Amino acid sequence: MSAGIDTRPAAASDFDIVKSWLSAAGLPSADLTTAHLPHFLIAVTDTGVPIGAVGIENVGSIGLLRSLVVDPSTRSAGVAGRLVSDLEIRAKKQGVSELWLLTTDADGYFSKLRYERRERRQAPVEIQRTREFSSLCPGDAVLMSKLL
Ligand SMILES: CC(C)(COP(=O)(O)OP(=O)(O)OC[C@H]1O[C@@H](n2cnc3c(N)ncnc32)[C@H](O)[C@@H]1OP(=O)(O)O)[C@@H](O)C(=O)NCCC(=O)NCCS
Repeated sequence: MSAGIDTRPAAASDFDIVKSWLSAAGLPSADLTTAHLPHFLIAVTDTGVPIGAVGIENVGSIGLLRSLVVDPSTRSAGVAGRLVSDLEIRAKKQGVSELWLLTTDADGYFSKLRYERRERRQAPVEIQRTREFSSLCPGDAVLMSKLL
């Protein structure tokens, strides 16, 4: 499947499907608005069908990777790996040098992508100010980061 996957910037028409994937996966979506979509990538099949998403909240050189989700019918086919890789490439081009994320049960997944666990007190103030960090993600969510 990974040969047939592409990614593209999200459009307003992707909002409903992204929101439904996030709520089905139990990921925070309460704060998500169409204003976030320019900072999201959508994975699509070679026929253009949306199959996954990832977003970034960019605060200068530091970015918060959020909302990585893949349609349950296309998991374990490299879709998330492609989304994270493409997001990292785009973020680096835009001047992001560190990506941070919070996850409740995908820390093993992100470790394979070379994200490292961090203590919450190590989070840069820009990350601490995000809603994911301050209120949307549970206090026991694992904090991870990666230098790009
Ligand atoms: C986590 C998720 C994004 C992975 O998507 P995917 O497209 O299936 O991932 P990939 O195809 O790139 O990688 C699949 C591999 O990761 C592993 N993996 C998937 N979820 C994992 C997890 N939570 N922890 C550890 N490994 C995981 C799979 O077992 C598979 O391993 P294999 O290659 O050895 O068979 C997807 O399962 C998902 O949408 N989960 C719900 C939302 C979520 O937890 N998002 C992450 C928090 S931000």
